[in-house]
Amino acid sequence: MAHVVVITGASSGIGRALALSWARRGARVVLSARSQEALERVAEEVRAAGGDGLVVAGDVTVEEDRKALCDRALAAYGRLDVLVNNAGRGYYAPTLEIDPAELEAIYRLNVVAPVRLAQLAIEPLSAAKGTVVMVSSIAGLVSAPRMGPYASSKFALEALSMSLRAEVSARGVRVLVVRPGPVATPFHANAVVTDENVGYRPPGHKPQSPEEVAEGVVRAVASGREVLETSAFVKVASLAARVTPGPMRWLSKRMARHSGL
Ligand SMILES: NC(=O)c1ccc[n+]([C@@H]2O[C@H](COP(=O)([O-])OP(=O)(O)OC[C@H]3O[C@@H](n4cnc5c(N)ncnc54)[C@H](OP(=O)(O)O)[C@@H]3O)[C@@H](O)[C@H]2O)c1
Repeated sequence: MAHVVVITGASSGIGRALALSWARRGARVVLSARSQEALERVAEEVRAAGGDGLVVAGDVTVEEDRKALCDRALAAYGRLDVLVNNAGRGYYAPTLEIDPAELEAIYRLNVVAPVRLAQLAIEPLSAAKGTVVMVSSIAGLVSAPRMGPYASSKFALEALSMSLRAEVSARGVRVLVVRPGPVATPFHANAVVTDENVGYRPPGHKPQSPEEVAEGVVRAVASGREVLETSAFVKVASLAARVTPGPMRWLSKRMARHSGL
């Protein structure tokens, strides 16, 4: 039977690419984001690619919209195999200049919504022995000057995912954490940025395509993986964060000084 996959943030970037990757495998894809119009366009692409697409527009930070997403997916298809918590936004600012209201907003979207959706979907996911996909980031393991607001939201998502994975394993539900590095999507254009001087990329480093990330995620779900680091850059940074934390702290201070902090 074709899988039923709920994807948040499906109107753009990685979420749209995920919808199309699953559609090519004949999945029934439930598409969530705030923009109905953009979702309708993705739903057409999903059908053209061989899948079935149901649009449920809504804001994942709003409880009624979260409930409506799960209810409508179940009413339409009667099961749920994969919940992909992908909707997210960036917020980059020096820590001393963080706007508390903006920080709360980013946590509601990047942290609270994925947890709440996992709670709402756990019964059908248990029945299907399904998977919760949490789209984290390399920023879920490493922070840097001006990355505190965004990175802290992904660190929190990593910790919650680690607990959730253990807690739902007896139900046969898996939790896959995905850590992309830079991906060519409108993510940075959509981020709240108070200071452009953010982050680090090795010279000549090219962002990954959302299609490449999406194919990796779909394969990782099929093979039952629990963590996916999507590029060589992410794997090196992830290893360095764990094995050489001292030099990473030194590099971070150097980045801060060189960028005027
Ligand atoms: N691109 C990167 O470099 C990168 C790297 C690492 C991790 N990631 C992570 O990958 C995920 C997807 O990012 P992306 O690069 O594909 O960015 P994107 O192109 O900006 O897509 C973000 C998606 O989230 C939706 N969204 C935003 N706020 C929402 C809300 N309140 N309720 C429902 N949907 C909402 C947007 O649609 P609407 O505006 O229509 O709601 C859009 O579909 C994020 O979690 C991000 O943190 C991205």
